[in-house]
Amino acid sequence: MKYCNVIIDNKEITVPEGTTILEAAKKININIPTLCYHPDLSIKANCRICSVEVKGKNKLVAACSTPIWDGAKIVTNSKLVRDMQKGVLELILANHPQDCLRCIRNGKCELQKLCEIFHISKSNLEDEVDALEVDSSSPSIVRDHRKCIKCNRCLEVCQESILSHAHRSIHYSITPAFERKLMDTLCVFCGQCSSVCPVGAIYEKDDTQKVWDAIHNKDKHVIVQIAPAVRVSIGDEFGMDAGKKVTGKLVAALRRIGFDKVFDTDFAADLTIMEESSELLYRIENGKTLPMITSCSPGWINFIEGNFEHLLKYLSTCKSPQQMFGAISKTYYPKIMNIDPSSIFTVSIMPCTAKKYEATRKEMNSSGFRDIDVVLTTREIARMIKSSCIDFEGIQEEEFDTPLGISTGAGVIFGATGGVMEAALRSVYEIATGMALNNLEFIGVRGLEGIKEASININGNTIKVAVAHGLDNAKKILEMIDKGKCDYTFIEIMCCPGGCIGGGGQPIGTTLEIKDKRIQSIYKVDEEMPIRKSHKNPAVLKLYEDFLGKPLGNLSHKLLHTNYNPKNKDYDFSQIYELN
Ligand code: SF4
Ligand code: SF4
Ligand code: SF4
Ligand code: FES
Repeated sequence: MKYCNVIIDNKEITVPEGTTILEAAKKININIPTLCYHPDLSIKANCRICSVEVKGKNKLVAACSTPIWDGAKIVTNSKLVRDMQKGVLELILANHPQDCLRCIRNGKCELQKLCEIFHISKSNLEDEVDALEVDSSSPSIVRDHRKCIKCNRCLEVCQESILSHAHRSIHYSITPAFERKLMDTLCVFCGQCSSVCPVGAIYEKDDTQKVWDAIHNKDKHVIVQIAPAVRVSIGDEFGMDAGKKVTGKLVAALRRIGFDKVFDTDFAADLTIMEESSELLYRIENGKTLPMITSCSPGWINFIEGNFEHLLKYLSTCKSPQQMFGAISKTYYPKIMNIDPSSIFTVSIMPCTAKKYEATRKEMNSSGFRDIDVVLTTREIARMIKSSCIDFEGIQEEEFDTPLGISTGAGVIFGATGGVMEAALRSVYEIATGMALNNLEFIGVRGLEGIKEASININGNTIKVAVAHGLDNAKKILEMIDKGKCDYTFIEIMCCPGGCIGGGGQPIGTTLEIKDKRIQSIYKVDEEMPIRKSHKNPAVLKLYEDFLGKPLGNLSHKLLHTNYNPKNKDYDFSQIYELN
């Protein structure tokens, strides 16, 4: 490899050829401001805030896109550079609503941070903010185009290609085709666009007030479930180390906020494995449709319903753990607690914006009540904790309530890509063979590779399985099935890259490096659990014994399974769900 010797702001450094000026500067702790740049995305170089001077050249260059060369002398802090950077910010501000105090990204906005650094509180240019309507048509995502700084990050992360360029010059904008509202497109509501947006132009729909209202209503018994991926991510919101497990602190904080009971989605993940494993074995033994594909990621469900309706028969009929929890919270739970089910208000804390949409689907009410009343993302519950003035880092850890807080290691690994498959294989093997599985870890389905494979021998038959995350990888698997070239028996698909640890409702600033730390943390939690197989969860076994009967039984079918619908070609989403 060739190396380059360069000087940046009078400091010498040697870097491999191909390193950009931005990367080289970072190595010697020189921070160059950026806006369109994101460490996990391709270089866009359209905002020019990272402009720097190069000795011997008569124009500024973009540090994020310019590779360094041997002998280069770079200046990042000259008057020319500062004037350019301030000019870029003033130009953006001239066309940007100045309502930071009311903006959902207040304190977490990259533009706001740069304005603070450069002491810019107002543009010297004449303000001309476009009078565009805010799109809050979907139950998951809000788009405020007035705040868009046209960085193009969202375009790249949207694997459904919902967003595109429109118009030219000063009218240039990022918008769905024909300027449709998100609700009228095939948006899967994954929220990936909201997690990379540097400003408040795309964000999760805020449902926190609905939860405060329920908590303050003395006639409501308000319970909450925490998804597996949230316990290793919410610490980021409070300045803790990436991937730190904070389950006990989160449980304690939710009790301080006023929830009557704090439960665990991992319980419902174990329940999902009971139903899904039984469904897989039923399909194998009875020659029914294979491969079977998991159905616990609502972003993925939206995708297949919208784009591959002829393949819907391959989906497992199981509801997601969130919805299974909801159905049980409105039936079994009030029964054992002797509470009127109509007084129960069930809240989910999810890494996911698509779960907000899922909870509103018409069919998610088989108990006679809405399975789930409100879904909050990791970001929203962090806001509630902050506004309750709770010292999250210092709070004493507490345990989940029982019985819906009892879970296994198999339940927690649902939070990472490959986790549902691994949890299912642990149970499928033991249920089908009646023998103990010695090695519980299916390393082949772990990690961030796009499509992973593994196989397991069950009663002399080799079962080949696959795991895909991200919609581009999901498409590849579906095309294999379509062409008759798929020899998998069971497939796990998650919408978001990395699975739920990388969900669109996770703390802003999630990168590949952070996702990796969350995954390691999730597997560590699994390793430390006394029970690591879903079919050994004593609370789930009691639920079957006292209430449901057996997996795939009549009551299980009614409460825990569902059906999927092709999306109307005219994108009439109202046929599929109603807004609450
Ligand atoms: S929510 Fe997901 S599918 Fe919809 S626009 Fe954003 S990235 Fe694309
Ligand atoms: S919506 Fe956000 S991510 Fe997309 S182009 Fe605008 S500022 Fe960038
Ligand atoms: S992968 Fe997880 S966060 Fe993403 S849409 Fe699916 S359930 Fe939601
Ligand atoms: S960060 Fe370099 S051009 Fe935008």
